Amino acid sequence: MPRHKNSGNNNQRRDFFHKEELKQKGLSEKLVRLRGMKDVIFEENKYWDLVIKKASDLAEVYGFKKIQTPILEPLELYRKSTGESSDIVSKEMYAFVDKNGEKIALRPEITPSLVRAYIENGMLNMPHPVKMYSVGPIFRHEKPQAGRYRQSHQFDMEIFGEASPVADFLLMLIAYNIFSELQIDIELQVNNIGCKQCRGEYIKKLTGYYKERGNRARLCNDCKRRLDKNPLRLLDCKEANCISLKEGAPPIVDFLCEDCKKKFTRVLEYLDEMNIPYNLNLNLVRGLDYYTGTVFEITAKEDPEKNQGGQLSLGGGGRYDTLVEFFGGRPTPTCGLALGIERTVAKIKTSGVPLEKDDKNIIFLAQLGDAARRKAMLLFEELRKSGLKVKQAFTRDSLKDQLEEANALGAKLTLILGQKEMNDKTILIRDMESGNQEVIDYKKVKTEVEKRINAV
Ligand code: HAM
Repeated sequence: MPRHKNSGNNNQRRDFFHKEELKQKGLSEKLVRLRGMKDVIFEENKYWDLVIKKASDLAEVYGFKKIQTPILEPLELYRKSTGESSDIVSKEMYAFVDKNGEKIALRPEITPSLVRAYIENGMLNMPHPVKMYSVGPIFRHEKPQAGRYRQSHQFDMEIFGEASPVADFLLMLIAYNIFSELQIDIELQVNNIGCKQCRGEYIKKLTGYYKERGNRARLCNDCKRRLDKNPLRLLDCKEANCISLKEGAPPIVDFLCEDCKKKFTRVLEYLDEMNIPYNLNLNLVRGLDYYTGTVFEITAKEDPEKNQGGQLSLGGGGRYDTLVEFFGGRPTPTCGLALGIERTVAKIKTSGVPLEKDDKNIIFLAQLGDAARRKAMLLFEELRKSGLKVKQAFTRDSLKDQLEEANALGAKLTLILGQKEMNDKTILIRDMESGNQEVIDYKKVKTEVEKRINAV
């Protein structure tokens, strides 16, 4: 209890200072970003681009194709897939009634949209497996904290129509490759939560255990509710009492049918053979209702404390063989995964992964006087279209300011066009490293610049 009191005080203090800060900036409280949302500003986008490019390139290498679906979907889509018993649907949805009275939701994950799109676009008639990836925002009204946002972004991959455990393994391999090539050390947790057949027997045993005298009373209120709706989720609870009760719960592996056991063994063998380190975590059940069979979660290695609370998973996924059929499609074995972009970006910012720099061979075009500015604007377009990396500051009048900007950009050459050059039909070319300047015939500017760039 005192913990809550403290965190309440902390929140009040933070809100107070935040309001003071806004006042100083002259911003009205009503005009600021919503809680749990983030602006991604300028240079930070280089990290985002790097993560998205790495993930997309690898997905394409393994035969996945890009798909984009709407961010708004019918609320029912998530009730039927992510599941009524999941925290996401029961507590965290951004759902509302639109002007036509339709119940709609901002997607809290991408998978249900891809299942809908697979059925709706008749993809079941395409050659299988159908492999797709998608990247974009998701919305969950969670309690914001470091690494947990109300709008976050996922890189999602799904494989439709492949029952072989190779598909489950492939997803883990791709995720492993993405993170290692981004220089992030990860831990992979793997489990198998059984299929429709074998899970029934297990659920009975599990429910029996939790309903034993004394056990039920120790469960947190959420778990008491989950016990009737989705008892598997009790194994995922982070409350202290529920964690200790979990120790005595029957392990699901003891109940797996022959087929699930065989597939699970195969997945682990493939991981061993490809030297992908993993932990067998028999309590891993994942927080979404649709999973069957293999489930996995990826966390960063260096955060064991935080990871235990499940707060900083970088990604997760698994098999969901019954969902396409449940949505009205043909029975289609399916599996997928999603990686969190914000959390991955946060990791690479500290891992020191090098960003590609685009600052070589920059040519800065400076001007002095309005007539020179007009001519420089035309020259800028000509040089840009011929493929040269030109930069400018046409809104500035002072040559000193423009040269400072050229320096800040790391320009190799600066072209200077002033009134004298206009009269003489020349242009000044300055080597920014040596400071040497030369007057050249205006007509030869492009050839001269190209000669100097190519000589590098
Ligand atoms: P998930 O575990 O709910 O799975 O989310 C996947 C990843 O999205 C998380 O590991 C985390 O990195 C990121 N993420 C989720 N919520 C937030 C948040 N509030 N703030 C920051 N990052 C977040 C799914 O969504 C499944 N659809 C994965 C899947 C695909 N299963 C099968 N196919």
